[in-house]
Amino acid sequence: MQENLKQVFLNEINSINSLQELINLKAKYIGKKGIIKEKLKNLADLSLEERRLQGKFLNELKDFIEETIKNKEEELKQKEILESIKKDFIDITLPGKNFYFGGSHPVNKTLLEIIDIFRELGFTVEEGPEVELDYYNFEALNIPKDHPARDMQDTFYISEDVVLRTHTSPVQVRVMEKKKPPLRFISPGKVYRCDSDISHTPMFHQVEGLMVDEDVSFSHLKGVLVYFLKRLFGDIPIRFRPSFFPFTEPSTEIDIGCIICNSKGCRVCKGTGWLEVLGAGMVHPNVFKFAGYEEGKYTGFAFGMGVERLTMLKYRIDDIRLFFENDIRFLRQF
Ligand code: PHE
Repeated sequence: MQENLKQVFLNEINSINSLQELINLKAKYIGKKGIIKEKLKNLADLSLEERRLQGKFLNELKDFIEETIKNKEEELKQKEILESIKKDFIDITLPGKNFYFGGSHPVNKTLLEIIDIFRELGFTVEEGPEVELDYYNFEALNIPKDHPARDMQDTFYISEDVVLRTHTSPVQVRVMEKKKPPLRFISPGKVYRCDSDISHTPMFHQVEGLMVDEDVSFSHLKGVLVYFLKRLFGDIPIRFRPSFFPFTEPSTEIDIGCIICNSKGCRVCKGTGWLEVLGAGMVHPNVFKFAGYEEGKYTGFAFGMGVERLTMLKYRIDDIRLFFENDIRFLRQF
């Protein structure tokens, strides 16, 4: 019967596969309320002779069980380690999963390129608010309240005196109010017009430019802007057309030879072979007056350009709305 107990224990321990089961088994046989403890307690009922024999046997069995459990524990731990190594194995020869890095938006790329070119020419970068006073957006740029030029730009009004700026030109006046010439800066930023079709979005980007000093002339304007366009587009034909802006006099619009059709005439250039890319002119004396500059002391030139438009030409994109849809398949091409 006692040999039987040893065999029952061995059968049980052999079928064990986890440390938890082993802990349970240990409690069952040699724990405080285990089988061996119970049997030792019962010894009291036996005769002296029996008690000695049984006691010896039970103590030996207890030692045997302890030893066996210890060995089994070792074995199970070893097995567990091997299993976890097997499970955590990383096959470094498997091909990796593809993932994509983000990239610059094409409009931003052009913007940074424009800034770089002007920085090399000694222009600094200034910023102004997008929610702008009517005064800076219009009045101080020589566009009074009833001026027909206000109709040229479909203005978003916040209130009677506050607008979303329709161009970056208000930065001209804001900077001149604070700084005395010589001035040489560009001012990139968002502008807003109530307009939307394949070549207009309600928000787009402009870069303004201003250079003011004593004796700045139209030839400076021409030199700077021709250099700029050749840097941006390569060696393309350039022409200056007389134009009108209330805040410059004389005013000009600058065209480049159509880079889509090589000046032959196409849908994009409306058959003319030319594309308008810049508005510019000599700063109007009234604007200097609004800025608080001494009359007649300074001259300067200003210019403005649309960044989306330049980007469309540079990358041959025919719908401005693509810039704002954020379709990853479009953006990934740049
Ligand atoms: N602000 C003008 C526009 O948005 C561009 C311009 C800027 C023209 C500076 C002349 C001088 O159309």
